[in-house]
Amino acid sequence: MKATVASLLAMASLSYAQTANTSEPTLAEIEKAAATVEPYSPTSDVKGLVFDKFYQVWLENIDYDVAANDTNMQWLAEQGILLTNYYGTTHPSEPNYCASASGDNFGMDNDDFHQIPSNVSTIADLFDTKGIAWGEYQEGLPYAGFQGYNYSNQETYANDYVRKHNPLILFDSVTSNSTRLRMIKNFTSLYNDLDNEKLPQYAFITPNMTNDAHDTNITFGAKWERGFISDLLNNTYFMNNTLVLLTFDEDDTYAKGNRVFSILLGGAVPDSLKGTTDDTFYTHYSIIASLSANWGLPSLGRWDCGANILEIVANETGYVNYDVDTTNLHLNETYPGPLSDSIYSEYSSVWPVPLTNATCSAGNGILDIVKETYKGREATFNYTHPFPYDTASNYNVDVTFTPLPPLPLPPLT
Ligand SMILES: *[C@@H]1O[C@H](CO)[C@@H](O)[C@H](O)[C@H]1NC(C)=O
Ligand SMILES: *[C@@H]1O[C@H](CO)[C@@H](O)[C@H](O)[C@H]1NC(C)=O
Ligand SMILES: *[C@@H]1O[C@H](CO)[C@@H](O)[C@H](O)[C@H]1NC(C)=O
Ligand SMILES: *[C@@H]1O[C@H](CO)[C@@H](O)[C@H](O)[C@H]1NC(C)=O
Ligand SMILES: *[C@@H]1O[C@H](CO)[C@@H](O)[C@H](O)[C@H]1NC(C)=O
Ligand SMILES: *[C@@H]1O[C@H](CO)[C@@H](O)[C@H](O)[C@H]1NC(C)=O
Ligand SMILES: *[C@@H]1O[C@H](CO)[C@@H](O)[C@H](O)[C@H]1NC(C)=O
Ligand SMILES: *[C@@H]1O[C@H](CO)[C@@H](O)[C@H](O)[C@H]1NC(C)=O
Ligand SMILES: *[C@@H]1O[C@H](CO)[C@@H](O)[C@H](O)[C@H]1NC(C)=O
Ligand SMILES: *[C@@H]1O[C@H](CO)[C@@H](O)[C@H](O)[C@H]1NC(C)=O
Ligand SMILES: *[C@@H]1O[C@H](CO)[C@@H](O)[C@H](O)[C@H]1NC(C)=O
Ligand SMILES: *[C@@H]1O[C@H](CO)[C@@H](O)[C@H](O)[C@H]1NC(C)=O
Repeated sequence: MKATVASLLAMASLSYAQTANTSEPTLAEIEKAAATVEPYSPTSDVKGLVFDKFYQVWLENIDYDVAANDTNMQWLAEQGILLTNYYGTTHPSEPNYCASASGDNFGMDNDDFHQIPSNVSTIADLFDTKGIAWGEYQEGLPYAGFQGYNYSNQETYANDYVRKHNPLILFDSVTSNSTRLRMIKNFTSLYNDLDNEKLPQYAFITPNMTNDAHDTNITFGAKWERGFISDLLNNTYFMNNTLVLLTFDEDDTYAKGNRVFSILLGGAVPDSLKGTTDDTFYTHYSIIASLSANWGLPSLGRWDCGANILEIVANETGYVNYDVDTTNLHLNETYPGPLSDSIYSEYSSVWPVPLTNATCSAGNGILDIVKETYKGREATFNYTHPFPYDTASNYNVDVTFTPLPPLPLPPLT
């Protein structure tokens, strides 16, 4: 206990324990921080409806059909449920990582050094409402909470860790809190936390630029992923009522529409569903909605609000998902926003206002801090929709959708 308090105090005195205002600390600063920053590994045991732990691992930039053709990917799909209709939210990488944390991409169409203002809430705030321990494991991150643009392999100078693949580091509401920063850790911490049974209930896992296929290819990335998961499959601590999502940030051929090969596996997947497929329409926003439905958490009031919920969870809550006709769907581009460079979207100075009262797919209303912050303001978008659209910019307005048939009633007893 004493040691924890002491290290907290030590942290508070270090300048990198708060939102950075420059992109690149010096190597000396990095080395100093690596030697002093104590990664923080809180745990919790909040029972979920369908799973007690959720870990997502993202690879990079592979078309659905290319992943589906890889034998290691095929092997991974046999271990769980293949999601055949799961989409990224736009291009390139960073807006997708951003979407997974905040339910929006804010029109981002680039991999720039963004610092998203502190009035934007994230899944960290959702988890904190119930004391659900969360974390991130970023391979190659030089120390917990590092905020620099990248950190290369110090021998070869090849790409290793990159900030654009780190969802929560983009948000000032995370980086202004030194406790939160210390929960953004590297793979050394992942294996320490695993060995010490100190894993959080939610984690986002980012392999480095070699392993995630970004600088390599599907053959290399899928082999890495199979090895990574195989080492964990028989680990009862890791897999005990755990749901693991293996997916990609985006596809590679932008005209193809951004469908990505995605797999659910782990101890929370019943044996009867192993090797099956789920054809429901999902996006990265569906994951936030599913986490909310699983743990009874509110919505961020953004695109997570209306998103479809993973069938494995929706089957338990009774939520009826939507079938979306993807013919005219443009999740390979996005709507106007303040983080746009006018490449795959239009720049707009307006930070979108979230919903403050709505019925969301997870059924638990809107996060209190969102309601307080945006009280009395009208939401910029109709975030209750099952996919992003915007009438003002004519984005995805002609995409049709219908409720899926309701689930069969249980037999009369
Ligand atoms: C950056 O942060 C340092 C220390 O907190 C401060 O002295 C400096 O004025 C800041 N620079 C800018 C450009 O905000
Ligand atoms: C599918 O994989 C085989 C080798 O396993 C390869 O020869 C072929 O080019 C691949 N096709 C696609 C579309 O990736
Ligand atoms: C991981 O982070 C810790 C502390 O934050 C640091 O000491 C260590 O050097 C890092 N490990 C690697 C492999 O970068
Ligand atoms: C990526 O991580 C692996 C270990 O998982 C390591 O062998 C490799 O050198 C790293 N790549 C780079 C470019 O640092
Ligand atoms: C800092 O983050 C931790 C973990 O998310 C949270 O429990 C705490 O309330 C936050 N502190 C402040 C001042 O927001
Ligand atoms: C895939 O990437 C690995 C690692 O960079 C490389 O050795 C291999 O030749 C690549 N395979 C193809 C088919 O490009
Ligand atoms: C995991 O357990 C299964 C049997 O339950 C066994 O066939 C397999 O070899 C084990 N894998 C590892 C990596 O130990
Ligand atoms: C799984 O977790 C539950 C409750 O969290 C615990 O009671 C049970 O013993 C665990 N099972 C294993 C095999 O660790
Ligand atoms: C998105 O897909 C549509 C339809 O294939 C295509 O016309 C458009 O150019 C694509 N957008 C980008 C940014 O590639
Ligand atoms: C959801 O329920 C339907 C109808 O009972 C069933 O066919 C399907 O396999 C279930 N899916 C999952 C992922 O549990
Ligand atoms: C939103 O608030 C208004 C006014 O208080 C209320 O009439 C409406 O029913 C609320 N809508 C939802 C979906 O809760
Ligand atoms: C917002 O979207 C919901 C769900 O698709 C729809 O029922 C509602 O009519 C939309 N509201 C407006 C103002 O377009």
